[in-house]
Amino acid sequence: MRAVVQTSYGPPVQITVQDIAAPALKPGHVRLRVHAVGFGFPDALMVAGKYQVKPEVPYTPGSEVAGVVTEVASDVNDIKPGARVLAMAGQGGLAEECIAPAHSIIPLPDSMNMAAAAGFLVNYGTTYHALVQRANIQPGETLLVLGAAGGVGLTAIEIGKALGARVLAAASTPEKLELAKKHGADAVFNYTQDTIKAKVMEFTGDKGIDVAYDPVGADFAEQVVRSMAWNGRYLVIGFAGGKIPAIPLNLPLLKGCSLVGVFWGAHTRKEPPVHAANLKALFELFESGKIKPHVTELAGLERFTEALEVLNTRRSTGKVVIRVASDN
Ligand SMILES: NC(=O)c1ccc[n+]([C@@H]2O[C@H](COP(=O)([O-])OP(=O)(O)OC[C@H]3O[C@@H](n4cnc5c(N)ncnc54)[C@H](OP(=O)(O)O)[C@@H]3O)[C@@H](O)[C@H]2O)c1
Repeated sequence: MRAVVQTSYGPPVQITVQDIAAPALKPGHVRLRVHAVGFGFPDALMVAGKYQVKPEVPYTPGSEVAGVVTEVASDVNDIKPGARVLAMAGQGGLAEECIAPAHSIIPLPDSMNMAAAAGFLVNYGTTYHALVQRANIQPGETLLVLGAAGGVGLTAIEIGKALGARVLAAASTPEKLELAKKHGADAVFNYTQDTIKAKVMEFTGDKGIDVAYDPVGADFAEQVVRSMAWNGRYLVIGFAGGKIPAIPLNLPLLKGCSLVGVFWGAHTRKEPPVHAANLKALFELFESGKIKPHVTELAGLERFTEALEVLNTRRSTGKVVIRVASDN
């Protein structure tokens, strides 16, 4: 089968499309014919050798996979060949076939196409967990979203709106701000030009923001914490800006606000029933048209280089998805 294979973390990174043997099926696993693979910021970090997991080379990147089950191990009873599913494969996704643990398999609604499915799980799952369990966001509250046209950012606008929040979105270009508006933001601003606190106070009538969703970090984080409302919740999502910020702890004291960590992968392992309920709620939001996955679709395994390029140069919008098989 054809697969993307990384042979060195470099520098420079060595990664090409090769013909390799299909992986062997292991107990507790299923084999998928891969249709589409979501490729996000964490995947780009993994290829660069900067992620918390650093697979031994050679390996095939790609964790978030949408495809069709072609074979199941003899100890797997509840999944049948022919099912359209999404899976968290961990690695090995950027290939014509991959192996995924049976416990990670999620059946797809008929109405969701493979490209949308490949970009769905991590981004919407993270945001739903963040806004519902971690922030306990309430209808009528205000929500600030940074990196608002990025993978998790767009999902925060959509889910925030679906949960009844008023959403203020921040991004770095007019095109990204336009996309944020299209996905439901009530107001937008360019945080590379405008002052975050001034825009927040204008939006909230000087009250400060109730919930802040921050996947960027860097120098924006402290400005956001300085813009929080009393009882506000600042959600630590990620550090796409490249720097892990250090926040002076007098700020949450003075603001009466909370700094709240969000770790979706750990949540799925530690709280499986809550994760399952979140997924059910997300598929219902999808079926009702309240969330509309925006993907940047690249057709063909060879185009993983473009995926890396747009992610590494801050040019992607929504989720980058690599199309491996051409059918739906
Ligand atoms: N906590 C969790 O469980 C969890 C789950 C999923 C993802 N994450 C993390 O969330 C972060 C965002 O992930 P994502 O998949 O949404 O990434 P993404 O699609 O690349 O979006 C990140 C956004 O960050 C902004 N940004 C600011 N400075 C940047 C820089 N130097 N390089 C790249 N982007 C920059 C960009 O928006 P502007 O150009 O508008 O500034 C970009 O759209 C990552 O750190 C990821 O690891 C965390």
